[in-house]
Amino acid sequence: MLFKSIFAGILLVFVSSISAKECNLDISGTDMMQFDKTILELDSGCTSANLTLKHTGALAKNIMGHNVVIVATEKFDSVIASISMDAGLDNGYLAESEDVLAKTAMIGGGEVSEIALDLSKFEKGASYTFFCSFPGHYAIMKGKFVI
Ligand code: CO
Repeated sequence: MLFKSIFAGILLVFVSSISAKECNLDISGTDMMQFDKTILELDSGCTSANLTLKHTGALAKNIMGHNVVIVATEKFDSVIASISMDAGLDNGYLAESEDVLAKTAMIGGGEVSEIALDLSKFEKGASYTFFCSFPGHYAIMKGKFVI
């Protein structure tokens, strides 16, 4: 019995060490209102994922703020329509919504925001769009999130 549970324990450690795959996505934004990527792609084998946004410019976040928001592509129009100054810079000018699947902090030049993505919110092969929710930025600062 003891032998059996030790064996099961060893097997569990072995299985979890080969199946856990931590993934990292990096993207940066500039003072020219641009992201350096139009596609953020996660390997389908990822079991956890972090997203890191870096602002490589120098302008303050209330002037040239950037964040990364991920939504289902079919929700993109309704979410950008809800962007409002009233929601405040600290919320990325977006009211809380279940349509927002991931959102980094809104940052200014020289700053970094890292978040863990909740992969249970995403379906492999579905269409997702990422964008910056600073008012007016989404027209240029957007791309596809692929999983
Ligand atoms: Co922006």
